Formats: sequence, C-alpha cells, structure tokens
Amino acid sequence: MPESPAVSFPQDRTCPFHPPTGYRAPGREATPLSRATLYDGRTVWLVTGHAEARALLADPRLSSARENPAFPMLTARLAGTAQRRIELLGVDDPEHHAQRRTLIPSFTVKRVAALRPQIQETVDRLLDAMIEQGPPADLVTSFALPVPSMVICALLGVPYADHEFFEAQSRKLLRGPTADDVDTARAALSEYFRALISRKQRDPGEGLLDELISKQLDTGAIDRDQLVRLAQVLLVAGHETTANMISLGTFTLLQHPDQLARLRSTDAVVPSAVEELLRYLSIADGMSRLAVQDIEVGGVTIRSGEGVVLPASVINRDPAVYPEPDELDLHRYARQHVAFGFGIHQCLGQNLARAEMETALRTLFDRLPDLRLARPADTIPFKPGDTVQGMLELPVTW
Ligand code: HEM
Repeated sequence: MPESPAVSFPQDRTCPFHPPTGYRAPGREATPLSRATLYDGRTVWLVTGHAEARALLADPRLSSARENPAFPMLTARLAGTAQRRIELLGVDDPEHHAQRRTLIPSFTVKRVAALRPQIQETVDRLLDAMIEQGPPADLVTSFALPVPSMVICALLGVPYADHEFFEAQSRKLLRGPTADDVDTARAALSEYFRALISRKQRDPGEGLLDELISKQLDTGAIDRDQLVRLAQVLLVAGHETTANMISLGTFTLLQHPDQLARLRSTDAVVPSAVEELLRYLSIADGMSRLAVQDIEVGGVTIRSGEGVVLPASVINRDPAVYPEPDELDLHRYARQHVAFGFGIHQCLGQNLARAEMETALRTLFDRLPDLRLARPADTIPFKPGDTVQGMLELPVTW
C-alpha cells in the first residue's frame, strides 16, 4: 500500500455535519486503511473502508479493554483515566456476552415499541411547555436533552428530579476538560448510584435498575461495584448521544430545506430519515480498538499490539456503499451504516434511540412548521471533535 502521511486524530469538524476535512486528505480516499497519529505521538491504523470496518468491528482479535496499557487512548483526558473500568463498552467476550445477555430483553424492538406512547407523551409535554413560554428557545435545554434524559430515567428507574446533577456529571465525563474532571465526575456518579441502589434495596421500584438488583445483585451474579458501573454506562450512553442526534439532526434539517420538506411530506419517510441522519452525522466518531493478534485486512497486516481507530463519519461516507455520500438524502437506504457501531458492541440502545429520534423530529416539525434558527448558523457553537458530536446550544424561533 502506498504510504500517505499520517493524519492527526481526532480533529474538530469545520462543518458540524461533515467529517473533519483532514480525515479524507487527498490521496487517501481510495485506501481503506491508512495511518493516523494520536495526541501522544503514537501511530495507529485509521480504518475508513466500510467493508473493512465492519469486518474488523466483528473480529474478536480486536479488543476493547481500555485498561491494557497498549490500548490507543484518543485524548490525554481519556488516557488519564484508562485504568477505570467501563462495563460493556470496555469488556471483551466471554465476559461481555454475559453482561449483555442480562440487558438485551429491556432493549428489544418489542420492548421499545411498548415505550413509544410514553416517549410521545414526554415529547408532547416538553413541546407544550416550550410553546407556552414562547420564542425564542434553546432547543438543546428545552427539548433535545430532556427527551432522552426523561426516557432513560423512566426505563432505569432513576429519579428525573436529579437530572441537573447527572447531566452535568455526564458532560464532565465526556468533555472534561481534564482527566481530573473525568475522574471527579465518575466518582460523583458512583456515589450517587451507590446511594440509589441502597435506597432501592430497601424500597424497590419498577425500573431496569430494580430488576438488576433483584435478579443480579441479590443473587450474587454481579457485585455492587459492577452494578454501579453498569448503571453509569446506561445512564450516560442513554441520554447524551440521543440528545446530540436530536439537536444536530434538527440543525441539519433546517439547513437542508428540501430534505425537511421530504420529512414533512409523510410519516412513512421518518424511519429512513432517521437512518440517513445517523449515517450523515455519525456523532460517535471515535471508535477504537487494540489488536491482540495479527490481522490481515484490506491488503495490510495489523500487528498484535497496534491500535486501530474507526471514524464512523468517514466509514459512513464510503462511496462504494453510498453513492454521492456527502449528500443528505432522506430517501436513501442507509441502514447498514456504522453510526451505532457493529459487532458485539453494537449499540445496545439503538432501538430506543430510533424511537426517540423518530418521535422527537416528527412531532417537532409537525407542531412548529415555522421552526427556524434564531441566529445565523455560523454563530451557533457545536462540540469539539474529541467527544460525541452535537450542538452546545440551538437557538430557535417559530
Ligand atoms: C443516537 C443515539 C446513539 C448513538 C449514535 C450511539 C452510538 C453507539 C456506538 C457507536 C456504540 C459502539 C461503541 C463501540 O463499539 O466502541 C454504542 C454502544 C452502546 N450504546 Fe449507544 N448510541 C446511542 C444511543 C444509546 C442509547 C439510547 C442507549 C441506552 C442505554 C445506548 C447504550 C449503549 C451501550 C450500553 C453501548 C455498549 C454496548 C456494548 O458494549 O455491548 N446508546 N452506542
């Protein structure tokens, strides 16, 4: 393979919905694997081919265990806390399989379908309040964040009254800025869940957390520390990501009026619109792995001990799979994207996220047909490249 110079990873997006321009520097479009340099000078493989990425994400010779000192950490902030175990996401099989099996029943298509009326009610209630208050509004704080936050609270059995606390900790966990911030946030969330679990043991409720207490903790299948870490992963992954998709998805549709018109033409287009937005925006853009054996792929050999980075934003724009990949096309079939990952770690909450996005976007544009940005697009801040992509605020009027 001809070697092109390594790009640095991660980079900020120059446009909130396109991959950082540097990830696709001239000469590297045709190569499914190239080289990238991390913040600490370490060179890793950058996988941008769709077929190669799916093959690798499904390959057990790649590990997700971050506590291995050779694991490629993408920022100093994350490297500083690499020894803190992350359940599910940071665990390899067979242990991962055992953890995931206990959770799958709560996230099936059928279970999520039963939650749809509750999601609709949450969306309606939030829009009622926003409309009653009148324009302008920050769509992030009044809608995009509370929708998934309320839904995951109800699902887990976490009191939504505590949302300001756990949303602030999640922000610190994902964006720092320092490793100390990340550690402090993790400790605060652990303490919170430790107390909540004890309270629930005395006075059980109805959420998934209560179920895990009776079926897993009280039977000795998992210990208290594990349950605390699991609850953290579910709560954080369950609201930040979807909130970003709702805000950035809304912004993107407002910037593409022809596509917005398609979305509003019929409810039948909403599911494919959500898939296309997931592909196009690829907000979780920093999947990474460590090779624990040699792997031949895409004409190269990834050696055991080498790091592998899989930027969903570029993988999801592979022209071999998506003609005109830089075009937003709500009518295209985008379902095989890797915005939710692929393989054993593929997003556990994807059915829930789809239901939330479909309900939120459909209802928002139904109820506010005149929705528009309250400020010029280029003055609206979005999140830096080293975290889940999204809007920091989204000032709208109607
Ligand atoms: C649009 C919103 C979402 C996006 C874009 C997203 C994206 C992702 C991605 C890319 C992964 C795989 C990471 C990797 O392989 O390294 C993942 C895993 C995961 N997601 Fe999501 N996610 C979303 C919503 C949710 C929701 C609502 C939940 C609810 C609990 C959730 C829970 C999880 C969990 C627990 C994992 C780890 C699964 C495992 O390791 O087995 N996510 N997500």
